Amino acid sequence: MNQLSETISSEQIPSGEPERQYAFMRKMRELTRQREEAFGRPLTCRIQTFGCQMNARDSEKLLGILKEMGYHESDSEKADFVLYNTCTVRDNADQKVYGHLGQLVSIKKKNPDMVVALCGCMMQEASAVEKIKKSYRFVDIIFGTHNIYKLAELMYRQATQKAMVVDVWDAAGDIVEELPVERKYPFKSGVNIMFGCNNFCSYCIVPYVRGRERSRKPEDIIAEIRELVSQGVIEIMLLGQNVNSYGKNLEKPVSFAELLRQVNEIEGLKRIRFMTSHPKDLSDDLIAAMRDCDKVCRHLHLPVQSGSSRLLKIMNRRYTKEQYLALVERIRAAIPDIALTTDIIVGFPGETEEDFEETLDVVRRVRYDSAFTFLYSKRQGTPAADMQDQVPEETAKDRFNRLLKEVQRTAGEVCGRYGGAVQDVLVECRNDHRQGYVTGRTSGNYLVHFPGDDFMIGKIIPVRLVESKGFYYMGMPEKNMEVQQ
Ligand code: 5AD
Ligand code: SF4
Repeated sequence: MNQLSETISSEQIPSGEPERQYAFMRKMRELTRQREEAFGRPLTCRIQTFGCQMNARDSEKLLGILKEMGYHESDSEKADFVLYNTCTVRDNADQKVYGHLGQLVSIKKKNPDMVVALCGCMMQEASAVEKIKKSYRFVDIIFGTHNIYKLAELMYRQATQKAMVVDVWDAAGDIVEELPVERKYPFKSGVNIMFGCNNFCSYCIVPYVRGRERSRKPEDIIAEIRELVSQGVIEIMLLGQNVNSYGKNLEKPVSFAELLRQVNEIEGLKRIRFMTSHPKDLSDDLIAAMRDCDKVCRHLHLPVQSGSSRLLKIMNRRYTKEQYLALVERIRAAIPDIALTTDIIVGFPGETEEDFEETLDVVRRVRYDSAFTFLYSKRQGTPAADMQDQVPEETAKDRFNRLLKEVQRTAGEVCGRYGGAVQDVLVECRNDHRQGYVTGRTSGNYLVHFPGDDFMIGKIIPVRLVESKGFYYMGMPEKNMEVQQ
């Protein structure tokens, strides 16, 4: 690789972005070609994504850069370039990455030219980087969350220096626009509207690894969505750790409600989703915008985390149980058919049986369509990690199981309410388990499986929800169906 790189063109590298990265992509493309000739086969890459929708979107950007450099996507880790886009929100996410790394050792022994890279949230933690440098020395490139746009430059550096490249930034730089993206689905896409989080919930590592809140300009967001629509995208998911505080730090502040209204005007776009909403910032104006914008899906993810006002205060969530329930009421009064989902943490330090009962009470009262439930995981560096009365594992697990039962019971009942109705379903894929079936999502984000063909994929189809299965439906496409789009 080193010898090959000596023959790389001496193209001047510009200092401005994104031009600089495109210059590195061209250099890497030359290298890829040379290696392909030497190996007599195409070069492959594999990105393994851990964690949330933000990471999934980042991985699409990383894959876009890799394709631009001439790599072919592979679904195996026996690839020439393997990248783990890591998550660190809970300890089990870290452990998964170490598990994968352990398996890579033997693969890399067989292919010493293989390049292994790690990026994402876990790499923003100095302790994780130290551990990898010490115990996983075959890793070639480490970078964080703030400089993923520099993948080509870092790969070029690694190829020419032949030493481990570590480039993790403490703080975010400018938002770099207009880099290549390789989307997983042709008909739907995530769109970042902001990065980072300023909330510092006391259990959460995200503000430390994703940095402070930065919003993209509305005109850049709108331009990106228009471009996506021109490429065939009909559903977008606006992404941010806390979308409800979108736009506050812009030169010309714009609210999230206003952004939704603007996005709703985009011709050709059919569905708008967004993630994640913090209850403390969800304004009445936003509720009105959701009600009025016909493209905004009837689904809201509204993490409650706990039902105990006492714990919510220690969690630094800045709302009480009563305020949360009142908010849910306002939302349901304005949009009666909205599907509500949530995140709940069990076993936060100091959680008593009474606190936990309050959480169960919220689940019973709100009757969520579904809920993600998590066992509290201690994250070094967060205030909660130093709190005295950590809950014993047994107690937390017992509560977790009780909570899960309650969530399944209420969600099962709620899901049943649409049985027999006809709803528009955006078909996403062939059904893996049942031949002749396809799978899609309703506006409320319910999965529906029904008899169908490949031609339906990417289209919105009216489907009768014949049978409720608790968290999903079995359906039947309406006769004389009018396929939209
Ligand atoms: N332990 C358990 N769950 C956590 N979450 C965030 N931090 C932790 C933690 N330390 C959960 C929250 C958040 C979701 C994305 O992950 O519920 O909403
Ligand atoms: Fe973490 Fe709270 Fe920010 Fe969500 S709002 S990312 S839970 S600090």
